[in-house]
Amino acid sequence: MINRVKQFWFALFSRMRPDDIKFVQEYLDEKERILFLQMDRPTQTHCVRVAKTCLFLLPANDHSVNQRLLVKAALLHDIGKRANMIRTIDRVLIVLLGTLTAKKPADLLKQINQRGRFAQALSAHLEHPQRGARLAQEFNLDPAIIYLIKNHHGEADAIAPPELSILKKADELN
Ligand SMILES: [Fe+2]
Ligand SMILES: [Fe+2]
Repeated sequence: MINRVKQFWFALFSRMRPDDIKFVQEYLDEKERILFLQMDRPTQTHCVRVAKTCLFLLPANDHSVNQRLLVKAALLHDIGKRANMIRTIDRVLIVLLGTLTAKKPADLLKQINQRGRFAQALSAHLEHPQRGARLAQEFNLDPAIIYLIKNHHGEADAIAPPELSILKKADELN
């Protein structure tokens, strides 16, 4: 629950600080930055926090994880949520309703009026991994990054690359 309150706070008040901008410039090339900048400000700051958390969670001396790939994917994992698709109030509602009812967004969507503004936000939220992967493909990003964007809300099974479980964990914490 504390994480949810933190998410709520950041969604409303977070800003990109100079060191966040430097961090993004250090890891993303020009075309990746274009995609990053298409996200709205709360999603950008969320992605920066997820990327920094990934670095924090990275097991020491574990050379099976491609650190640069992981950070790039973390910075871009929510590009499927393009600016203005999901209003902050809907974002907050999705998180709050999910926490209070312990229901997944897909189940929530089945129970509400499908034509309302909130339903649109909910389906945009549900589709964002697929949509993000399509966008990344259009920009010719590394297939390994596209895979991580597409699967960041899926299961990290035994055959998934090690970067996926770290990304998922960092995403949950932010
Ligand atoms: Fe996501
Ligand atoms: Fe995310």
